[in-house]
Amino acid sequence: MTYKRSIIITGGAGFIGNHVVRLFVNKYPEYKIINLDKLTYAGNLANLKDIEDKPNYRFVKKDICDFEGVYKLMQDEHVDGIIHLAAESHVDRSIKDPFTFAQTNVMGTLSLLQAAKLYWETLPEKWEGKRFYHISTDEVYGALELTHPQGIEPPFSTKASSGEHHLAYGDKFFTEDLKYQPHSPYSAAKASSDHFVRAFHDTYGMPTVVTNCSNNYGPYQFPEKLIPLFINNIRHRKPLPVYGKGENVRDWLYVVDHARAIDLIFHEGKVAETYNIGGFNEWKNIDLIKVLINTVDRLLGRPEGADMDLITYVTDRAGHDMRYAIDSTKLQKELGWEPSLQFEEGIEKTVRWYLDNQEWMDNVTSGDYQKYYEDMYKNR
Ligand code: NAD
Ligand code: DAU
Repeated sequence: MTYKRSIIITGGAGFIGNHVVRLFVNKYPEYKIINLDKLTYAGNLANLKDIEDKPNYRFVKKDICDFEGVYKLMQDEHVDGIIHLAAESHVDRSIKDPFTFAQTNVMGTLSLLQAAKLYWETLPEKWEGKRFYHISTDEVYGALELTHPQGIEPPFSTKASSGEHHLAYGDKFFTEDLKYQPHSPYSAAKASSDHFVRAFHDTYGMPTVVTNCSNNYGPYQFPEKLIPLFINNIRHRKPLPVYGKGENVRDWLYVVDHARAIDLIFHEGKVAETYNIGGFNEWKNIDLIKVLINTVDRLLGRPEGADMDLITYVTDRAGHDMRYAIDSTKLQKELGWEPSLQFEEGIEKTVRWYLDNQEWMDNVTSGDYQKYYEDMYKNR
């Protein structure tokens, strides 16, 4: 079959990537979707069980740093679009091992850019109909101050932020024109990769687009990150390690709403533009953790709040950014995107998903998930 488009999605076996792959494979049967993933500890093909046999889906185990391999894949598959999510993504790991973050996030992105450039430049139509879409993070902007510790009414409102909890904890927000001020090795590496993507547009004319999103939550997130780690710990009545005083603020977006934004921007975003993605949904860590405890307790039939004593304050993360808050007005106004879920609904769905998918969690925490790939390909 001849496909209308041939798109590589990198990091498709990871948390956000699997939702993007699923959305594209199901919504666009006329597109060939190639999931290129190295399957690091964060990549889990079991996340894609439901679509792995679809005719328009192909998985390729490959490192984005393998420039020649990526170039050949692009040639073989006549690739005209790249949606680049593959990265080392956990801040705490970046503090212990910055080299891996520079290698994957910077050199890996450069390798993809260069492979795409060399391949697309050989084609008669060159850049026409091509797109290199780089997925980045709000952390590149640095940290905002907590100027209103009790919270104030936010200056913006969206469908998802209309509930009473959605206060803003400062006057400033991350807008697309802010200068980059990354603090962690993770965000420094992401910032560097963003600069390379823009440089490929400005220098060679590559049709690029960059988006910077706030914290995602939802199914299939690796349980080193706050929400899945804490849900699992509450279930098993294990301590909840809260960094510092738990006062840091994060801006949470349901992962499927991020995937919807990626779909929209891949198709309709303007070349060389940056769009911030977020739902104006700020939470202090400690308040969010209390919601998680109450929700897990309720869904497990325990008295609500019974597990509050699991909260354990521990040494703060080095260089811990105080507050993230995305202003996504540009995306909402120019492309008409808005989050589909209220936070209360999203968090309930998410807790329920982790509780209902204990087998997935056990496979990840035991390391068994890494055998899924071998088993899957053994008989093919
Ligand atoms: P994740 O850690 O869950 O998944 C990363 C995926 O990339 C894994 O499947 C892993 O195997 C793959 N990968 C890593 N190194 C690779 C390499 N060298 N070659 C090929 N594949 C490789 O990450 P995530 O949370 O899904 O984040 C995806 C992207 O979105 C990242 O670029 C991240 O910076 C960005 N982002 C994440 C969030 C968030 O809240 N999780 C928010 C904003 C932006
Ligand atoms: O803002 C977008 C970013 O969000 C993404 O770019 C990153 O890839 C993603 O990991 C996430 O980064 P954070 O560092 O904000 O996420 P994390 O889940 O690690 O932590 C959320 C907050 O909770 C943060 O303030 C640190 C705190 N925390 C985290 C863990 C794992 C704790 O207090 N205890 C913990 O055990």
